[in-house]
Amino acid sequence: MTEHIVMVGALNADLAIRVERLPAPGETVAGRDVQVLPGGKASNQAVAAARLCGRVRLVGAVGDDENGRMLREHAAAAGVDVAHVAVLPGVATGQAIIPVDDAGENAIILVPGANGAIAPDDIPVEAYLDAAIVCLSLEVPMPVVQRAAARAAAAGARVVLNPSPYRSLPASLLDATDVLIVNELEAGQLLGTPIDLDADGIAALRAAVAPRGISQLVVTRGAQGALAVDGGAVAEIAATRVEAVDTTGAGDAFTGALAVGLAAGRSLPDAAAEASLVAAFSTTRRGAQPSYPTAAELADLRAAGVH
Ligand code: RIB
Ligand code: NA
Repeated sequence: MTEHIVMVGALNADLAIRVERLPAPGETVAGRDVQVLPGGKASNQAVAAARLCGRVRLVGAVGDDENGRMLREHAAAAGVDVAHVAVLPGVATGQAIIPVDDAGENAIILVPGANGAIAPDDIPVEAYLDAAIVCLSLEVPMPVVQRAAARAAAAGARVVLNPSPYRSLPASLLDATDVLIVNELEAGQLLGTPIDLDADGIAALRAAVAPRGISQLVVTRGAQGALAVDGGAVAEIAATRVEAVDTTGAGDAFTGALAVGLAAGRSLPDAAAEASLVAAFSTTRRGAQPSYPTAAELADLRAAGVH
């Protein structure tokens, strides 16, 4: 198969710091165990998918610096094609400062750097060659995302949008989107009002995106699992019970794994169930990318009866 999964978006060096609890405004807390880890939403999705044997291309930008080299090397080592990760002169690679508390929760300060400096014309059409699935997230400028969506749709790819971190979504972007992945908070932001994920809430969400041609949605619910909405059918995906130590990048693991399932021709609920397991697994180890399972680790989990 020559079909590719293409992730377009950000690469960040994550400065991860353990804290007992996240500081309140004006407060100082003691941190420990500082690590620089590969992160950024598109980069995370790409590595998650490649570890599961997807054929993956990463599209984005880094600066000409140590962090940029680290990110490209880490993705390439996972089997990701990084030929379309541009090295931009004169800007720093994106960074994320991420304190993680003892319950595994985090807060993120994002410094876009090269991710904020990419322009739509920096991404050539070849980036979408043979693309079956194109995943988009929102850590790069909106015009870049819009252009990517239009190019991906024109190339006949299925466009998966994870609108995170949330920004208001241009109609043209939604028009080009086939599969929307949101968490509960983003679902509310999309609707403009907090949402209950009962039948009425799901109906409201479906009604909001149906006019834009989106009939496939996934709502991720952290420790509560996920909902896969495929036309009128709603599948509830139970969460895998795990001891979470770090939820950073769990959503990106979900998206990467979902893309692999969809590229393999699985149904949305089946792909989402697998993605949910992958995301849960990722929370049991530190960091984003370093915590993502390989296909073999996933098979071991299944053999042990975990699902
Ligand atoms: O989604 C997790 C990612 O968000 C982290 O890796 C960090 O880089 C931030 O962009
Ligand atoms: Na993790």
